[in-house]
Amino acid sequence: MFNVDKDSLLPIYYQIEEGLKSLISSGELQPGEVIPSERELCDRYDVSRMTVRQAINNLVNEGYLVRKRGKGTFVGMAKIEQGLKGLTSFTEDMKVRGMNPTSILLDFREIKATPALSTKLNIHENEWLIEMQRIRLADDIPMAYESVYLPKELVPDLTKEIASKSLYDYIEKEKKLSITHADQTLEAAVAKEKEAGILQIKEGAPVLLIERTTYLETGKPLEFVRSFYRGDRYKFKIELVRS
Ligand code: GLP
Repeated sequence: MFNVDKDSLLPIYYQIEEGLKSLISSGELQPGEVIPSERELCDRYDVSRMTVRQAINNLVNEGYLVRKRGKGTFVGMAKIEQGLKGLTSFTEDMKVRGMNPTSILLDFREIKATPALSTKLNIHENEWLIEMQRIRLADDIPMAYESVYLPKELVPDLTKEIASKSLYDYIEKEKKLSITHADQTLEAAVAKEKEAGILQIKEGAPVLLIERTTYLETGKPLEFVRSFYRGDRYKFKIELVRS
């Protein structure tokens, strides 16, 4: 276990929080493993239930721990660390981690480009787009919820069946189009009722909102995508070089 120093200036709940985090990062507590009960922690460190609860609540909110009603508190799954440099697909991202990527297609339809989408995709207003909404899962756990908009002209034969698999695979291998670059933004957001239901998280839970416009070699935008990634399952990593 870890030590708690009652003479320290650091609050006790914080020391417990950091102690539990260190057990998780050292692997002493494994993902899916139950942690000692609140009572055990109170007795071991001779602290109040409220102090222990505050530490645990913080760790639950940050995704380190998961509470299961009537069963106890468990170590959460380690967050997926995703690089921000390469232009990769969800399928590739999960496969390199040895996870099985799947999709649930929630919606697939043709729509006319709104003014906002026509600007994003550099096309005329009212041009036909294919809109698809997909839940992206890794080993059957929902990771992200994506709304994708593609100019129909580029993918006139896109079907629901294709949309349920890797889009980039289809574009590159079937359509023989070359995807070259993308503009992407990442911002903090909270899950509204719809996203929370889809991602199986609580309403108000943190999510990462990612918007990507992906371009083909020809310079034409291929897709505009708005995705919500689960804040408890993802962290993004980027290398910074000082010039
Ligand atoms: C990521 C990107 C999307 C892209 C998708 C393609 O999820 N955020 O912009 O459309 O990858 O993934 P796949 O080829 O698995 O369909």
